Amino acid sequence: MRPHRDSDGDEDSGTAGIVSGRPRPDRSALTVTDLQVRVGDGDDVRLLASLPHLDVRAGACVAIVGESGSGKSTTLHAMLGLTDGLRVSGRIMLGDTDVVSAPEKTLNTLRGARIALISQSPQSSLNPTMRLGTLIRRVLARHGIRGTEVRQRTDDALRDVMLDPDLLRRYPHQISGGQAQRFAIAMAVALRADVVLADEPTSALDVTVQAAVLQLLDRLRAEHGIALVLVSHDLAVVSRIADHIVVMRHGHVVESGPATDVLAAPSADYTGELLAAVPTLGE
Ligand SMILES: Nc1ncnc2c1ncn2[C@@H]1O[C@H](COP(=O)(O)OP(=O)(O)O)[C@@H](O)[C@H]1O
Ligand SMILES: [Mg+2]
Repeated sequence: MRPHRDSDGDEDSGTAGIVSGRPRPDRSALTVTDLQVRVGDGDDVRLLASLPHLDVRAGACVAIVGESGSGKSTTLHAMLGLTDGLRVSGRIMLGDTDVVSAPEKTLNTLRGARIALISQSPQSSLNPTMRLGTLIRRVLARHGIRGTEVRQRTDDALRDVMLDPDLLRRYPHQISGGQAQRFAIAMAVALRADVVLADEPTSALDVTVQAAVLQLLDRLRAEHGIALVLVSHDLAVVSRIADHIVVMRHGHVVESGPATDVLAAPSADYTGELLAAVPTLGE
């Protein structure tokens, strides 16, 4: 098992793949092989999502795009091992761990600490009865981080996402959508997640804060070597920061390649349609 990345990771000789406390850019953070997610049984089986191959390296951003219902969220949930009632086959390697076959206990440790989800509406996933300070303390405690380390990590993470520490005294309903999204990102940063999955992270936000949240994800990817999987129905959103683009439709990958290639010369008609729907790119 790969040791957890620590603040003194650069002095820890056992911290494979990490230089100066950061993952090496050439290291695979997440590798998916032959993933299929189905629902139903007998004659009534329906494919929800499939992904033949995907490799997300530390510090890279892979985007998954496609219209609503194409299987994007299902794919992210599979990466978190959140597939109750669904039939999952294939492999999803998070470091040395196969998420598809790992026991729930292992998955509980990985979620948050190694792989984090930024959802479309972070406010709804934050416990409304707790102040933000209590929320982040509990999340850190669940992963064994206590004492002075809690304060240090919280302060550093809030500074990273440019949130005022005074917000820790507030309840989730007392902050804006943009602040909630920054706070969700701060929790992933505080836990030092290697992989961040962002599911339509800006679609519930005001236009004015959408770009800021995307820029923030992009900066953390570069500075912390986070492997970012960005899901969106909007090709314009992902075109700004993706290195690699996967286009999904009806649960199938219709195109996958370097972002520059996919945007300049889409090989699938469907990608062309998505591009044509983007005013600034479709000319
Ligand atoms: N737990 C589930 N049981 C049955 N069908 C599901 C389940 N989760 C998602 N689906 C279906 O899978 C398809 C893909 O959904 P989803 O992954 O949410 O798409 P997207 O995120 O691209 O909009 C949809 O047809 C949706 O209704
Ligand atoms: Mg979705």
